[in-house]
Amino acid sequence: MKINAKTKVYGVIGDPIEHSLSPIIHNAAFKKLKLNAVYLAFKVSPTNLADAVKGLKSLGVSGFNVTIPHKISIIPLLDEVDSLAEKIGAVNTVKNVDGKLVGYNTDGEGALKALEENGVSLKNKKIVLVGAGGASRALAFTFANYAEELIILNRTEEKAINLAASISKNYGLKVKGLRLNEENLTLELKDADILVNTTSVGMYPNIKETPIPKKLIKPGMVVFDIVYKPLKTRLLRDAKLKGAKVVDGLAMLVYQAVKAFEIWTGLHPPVNVMFKAALRGLKD
Ligand SMILES: NC(=O)c1ccc[n+]([C@@H]2O[C@H](COP(=O)([O-])OP(=O)(O)OC[C@H]3O[C@@H](n4cnc5c(N)ncnc54)[C@H](OP(=O)(O)O)[C@@H]3O)[C@@H](O)[C@H]2O)c1
Repeated sequence: MKINAKTKVYGVIGDPIEHSLSPIIHNAAFKKLKLNAVYLAFKVSPTNLADAVKGLKSLGVSGFNVTIPHKISIIPLLDEVDSLAEKIGAVNTVKNVDGKLVGYNTDGEGALKALEENGVSLKNKKIVLVGAGGASRALAFTFANYAEELIILNRTEEKAINLAASISKNYGLKVKGLRLNEENLTLELKDADILVNTTSVGMYPNIKETPIPKKLIKPGMVVFDIVYKPLKTRLLRDAKLKGAKVVDGLAMLVYQAVKAFEIWTGLHPPVNVMFKAALRGLKD
């Protein structure tokens, strides 16, 4: 890669940021398409967020991703937020449009593409979404366009109820928010088509944990775990043993990046190259 005075700069802001796979994924795509662009990781603490955003704007950075803990707090610092990101209440991608910072959220689209790629359609399906954090909100607002019924279960019940209420205000499907416990899971998983884990339960280093007791997983149901470290979570190993169809978090990780790349460059990136780069990054 040649860096010169015309090199476009992209990046990701978050804290911690050292383990982000985004630089590996995006730089692999820039290289393959021979674009004069580079993607860097910037550690930005919450107290420095406003200054950092001002600086990125003043320096004319072309675009950047936003990760924990800034996905919500960045919103008032942007010039515009697209309507989906506004409903979700979180931004993970920012584009610099002639000096104006515009926010988007590509997590939901990433999840949708990941399911599609695995042959899973959401049409007329009952989806049980476990978790009501940032990722869950993105998935819920995206899935609401396609599913017939959406059940949101969360450890903090109030967040599930609030998310369900804002979905039902915006969309016409059947939606309910409940406390995450065995009783509600038993009831709702009985006739569910798709179960999605959006909590961080089972994520490294707590890899022995699972948000769903194995006995509640039904053969033939789709179990999608968006956790990607590790790729084979305890939930997915249990689901496979029970005869469910499993989808891991890798494709969502790649497709949310694909969508961000498209927003920034207007080009379709080399998806296979991005998959390989993400897998390489996960092994490091
Ligand atoms: N594959 C991808 O592309 C992708 C993209 C985004 C995120 N992710 C992964 O998704 C996970 C969640 O990310 P996020 O940004 O949504 O985080 P977040 O906003 O912090 O939300 C965390 C969620 O996990 C729940 N939770 C945490 N610990 C729990 C426990 N011990 N028992 C039950 N529930 C628990 C929280 O419940 P409370 O509300 O009760 O605290 C909340 O619903 C992370 O593992 C992240 O790496 C993957």
